[in-house]
This record gives sequence, C-alpha cells and structure tokens, in this order.
Amino acid sequence: MEQLLNKIEAYKNEASSTVATDTKTVEEFRIKWLGTKGIVKEIMGEMKNVAPEKKKEAGQLLNEFKQFVEARYAELKDANSTTEHQTSNIDLSLPGDELPIGSRHPVTLMRNRIVSIFQRLGFAVAEGPEIEDDWHNFGALNLPEHHPARDMQDTFYIQQNPDWVLRTHTSSVQIREMEKGNLPIRMLMPGRVYRNETVSARSHCFFHQVEGLYIDENVSFADLKQTLYFFVKEMYGKDVKVRFRPSYFPFTEPSAEMDVSCFICGGDGCNICKKTGWVEILGCGMVHPNVLSNCGIDPNKYTGFAFGMGIERPAMMKYGINDIRLLSENDVRFLKQFTSAI
Ligand code: DAH
Repeated sequence: MEQLLNKIEAYKNEASSTVATDTKTVEEFRIKWLGTKGIVKEIMGEMKNVAPEKKKEAGQLLNEFKQFVEARYAELKDANSTTEHQTSNIDLSLPGDELPIGSRHPVTLMRNRIVSIFQRLGFAVAEGPEIEDDWHNFGALNLPEHHPARDMQDTFYIQQNPDWVLRTHTSSVQIREMEKGNLPIRMLMPGRVYRNETVSARSHCFFHQVEGLYIDENVSFADLKQTLYFFVKEMYGKDVKVRFRPSYFPFTEPSAEMDVSCFICGGDGCNICKKTGWVEILGCGMVHPNVLSNCGIDPNKYTGFAFGMGIERPAMMKYGINDIRLLSENDVRFLKQFTSAI
C-alpha cells in the first residue's frame, strides 16, 4: 500500500511538471497518461495486489489520481487552444465580410402603415386563403350565380374544381370572420387578390388589398365616416379633404367610394389625379343585411360597415413608382431603394 502511495505521488509530480507547447504534445500527454496502455490504466491494475482490507482506501486514491491527471490534461489542452489562436496567422482585428441586408418591399411598407393606423382604433388583423370557394368570394357577399355584378371583377377559375377561384377581393375574408360568430368584430384583413386583367404599367393580374370590417349593435354610417376620416388624416395629413360618392357594391347598402384631395398637387389638378384634384382610395358601405344573414348574424340586432382599399396605388404614389410591374419583378436594384423607407 505504501509502495502504491509513493508511486502515485511520484506520478503526480511528473504529470504536474509535464508541459505541452502545442496540440501535438498535448495529444502525446493524453496517450501517455490516459491512453489504453497509459499510466492511469497501468496503475489501476495494481488494485489486484492490494490487501482486501485496504481495497477501499486504495480505490479512492486511484480514482483521485485519475481525476488529477484528467484535470491536468484539460489544463494543457485549454492553454494550447488559446496559444494556437494567438500564434496563428489570422488577424482577428480585421473587419468581417459585410452581409447584404434585405429591405422591406414597398407593398409591405404601405400595408404595415395602413394596418398600424387601424390597430390604434382597436382593429385586429386576420387573413384568409387565396384560393376561395364560390360561396366566400361571391355567394355569401350577395352575389348569387348569374348576378351581373360578378362581371365587375374578371375571375380566374381553377380548372380542377369549378367551385374554386383565385379570390378577386379580400371581402371573402369578411365572410370567414363573420361565420366564426365572435361578435363584435373589428377586423382588418390584408392580402393578395387576383383578376384576369391585361398586365400593363397601371394594372396587374394580382395585387393587394386591405379589407376592414366593423360589426356591433348600433353601428351607423356616421361611425364609418369618422373611422375613415381618422385614417385619412393619419395617412395623408390634416389638410387633406375627403369626399364620399354614392356607389354600388352588392355586399353593402348604402355603398360609397371615398376620394381624397390629390396629395401630389393639393387639388389643383395633375397627372396622378387625372386633372380632377381627387384620388379615389377605397370602396365602403354598410354591410348588407343579406350578407349578415348569410353568415348567421341577426341583421335586426347587428349592423356594421366594411371597406376595401388597394395597396399598390397608394404605395406607388408615396414612393414615386410609375409602373406597377416593378413591384413583382423582384429586381434587387429596384427593391433595395426602399432600405431606409418607412
Ligand atoms: N371588394 C371591393 C373591390 O374589390 C372593395 C370593397 C367595396 C370592399 C366596398 C368593401 C366594401 O368591403 O364595403 O372592389
């Protein structure tokens, strides 16, 4: 036993004084001390020569020795990994490679702006599918089959299923929200819509809209106007004038279109407002009682208003974009111009 103690002591001293100056000598240390034919293994083998009553004590000593060597190995390994960095040829003070940062798309920027204004009035955001069934895109919105107003929007039909269309407006999401039956509803529903139109600088076969819906007891046209006034002032400034023109949409009664005084020429007349001094920005109205009933809402108890606006046109006006096709070509030279836009 004493012999073993002395041996361990001597090995400890040796291990402590062994130095390693690079990864190669660290590895040599590991093999010599901790390898399968290493010193630790060898000395463990001496257990069999220890008298039975001393086995417990010897076991503890040997374990302690093993831990000692392992700690020394970790120490040498650590020390050498730092030296390696310090002595290598890498200049850590050099600046890194700059990664190009993307930018938000102008349509997203405008969408976020619109959404954030209505969020301040307590509107929540909802989305719906771009492939819709006939009921949500037309039927429930008071546009039964063969209704002439279906021709107001040129529809893409899905070949495999005549009941499916690419939604022509985000009004379909109104239906989905009302069907859930959680009243009152104060929702904003942005999304992409599709229409079978010839692509030109002014129009595209897909674009984006934001739909708004407010359903509660005693909601009136005055609420609609106040909400939209607030939106316009926040969006275009205090001095912008607003006008409502009577219009027709099957899903609202009465219906209106809202114009704002041209924010480019201030109402004097320019190319943007086609010399009228006004720019049309949205359609709106009081939700038709048939639409409420179609969604299981009692029109005698609840009323509401809805509105829908395009996103591309206001975005193009704000950022001075003169061709709608630029918005879907994904040319980074175009897109990166909006890096700092808000
Ligand atoms: N869905 C209409 C369109 O795409 C826009 C619209 C008009 C939406 C009146 C509405 C509304 O919610 O009340 O042209």
